Amino acid sequence: MDLAAFRALEPLCWRAPSAHNTQPWRLRYERWAVTVGWDPADALPAGDRAGRDLRLSLGAFVETCLIVAADAGLRLDWAADHDEADRRAGRLRPGRQPYRTPFRTADVWDRRTHRGRFTAGPDADVVAAVDAVARRAGGAVRVVPAAGRLRALLRTADRQVYADPAVVAELRRWLRLDRSDPRYRADGLTDSCLGLDRAAATGLRAALAAYRVLRPLGLPRLLAAAGGDPLGQGGGVLALVAPPGLDAAGQVEFGRVLMRTWLTLHTAGLAAHPLSQLVDVAATRDALGTLLDVAPERIVHVARVGRPAAPAPRSARRVNRESDLLAATPLEAVSLHPREAIG
Ligand SMILES: Cc1cc2nc3c(=O)[nH]c(=O)nc-3n(C[C@H](O)[C@H](O)[C@H](O)COP(=O)(O)O)c2cc1C
Repeated sequence: MDLAAFRALEPLCWRAPSAHNTQPWRLRYERWAVTVGWDPADALPAGDRAGRDLRLSLGAFVETCLIVAADAGLRLDWAADHDEADRRAGRLRPGRQPYRTPFRTADVWDRRTHRGRFTAGPDADVVAAVDAVARRAGGAVRVVPAAGRLRALLRTADRQVYADPAVVAELRRWLRLDRSDPRYRADGLTDSCLGLDRAAATGLRAALAAYRVLRPLGLPRLLAAAGGDPLGQGGGVLALVAPPGLDAAGQVEFGRVLMRTWLTLHTAGLAAHPLSQLVDVAATRDALGTLLDVAPERIVHVARVGRPAAPAPRSARRVNRESDLLAATPLEAVSLHPREAIG
């Protein structure tokens, strides 16, 4: 396999999802492999203290790379080799045959997070399909009963998140509410992806700018309330449950599972709206564990899922075209000669 051929596809791989759309992955092209690592500048140390969402995002990226390569007929394999100190998740390397997957590059390209209204939730067949995906990796997908209890948990989680100045500062760093900011088209969470109209975006920007002063006056509650009621927007809520004792490498692997479940939903005409705050806040994660009768630490992701009433806006990426890729990659990180064909 020609790693240069994979490199030309890399902009498609960047359509992988990541928490706050930070796109933390970094690829290092070597002679025989492409090392997948991450940049700590794109981690979320306040909101994602344990690094769970970082590793899920890296896994989602790896799965996306394998799908995109397979669709182009490239024989690419994944060798997990997690090393926290070296900030390395593993290596993509030439394999014997293309990765076996039911998904295509078009699915990767079209999938989107959908935070708006759903006309229906996942039916029993779809739940069974995503559950089967998780079960093949030793996990499960469970339906969270979306009654008043879940709404209360979501409110608790939102308030707790907005009460933490470090988490809010981090969110502010990744919010893209100003369309003239060049980063608006590169990364982070845009007003349109969050479903905010002009007035709401301006209000949120002003509230966050005054956070320090307004926090003791109840701003966290106001911000939590301003987020609206996602559960009132329809759909069902699904939890991704991992096997017990998942380590860091296992979380990357489960990011691959997460990606496969989202693409399974996408090909069924559905989309996901993650509600990670329910997992981030220990009290609500514990309560979810009780609701589902599973050990709370096994719940790695929760999302509202359903059939979008209208297409969601497309999120930004730092790398969109091959020319961007060349501009974004430091030359010293590229040791592959363009004509070097291997495998
Ligand atoms: C591990 C993970 C956690 C996420 N958590 C949330 C979340 O709590 N709330 C939310 O609205 N989006 C969440 N997202 C969705 C990202 O914000 C989204 O993937 C990113 O903005 C790119 O947009 P796209 O999925 O439409 O390509 C999460 C995504 C991942 C991979």
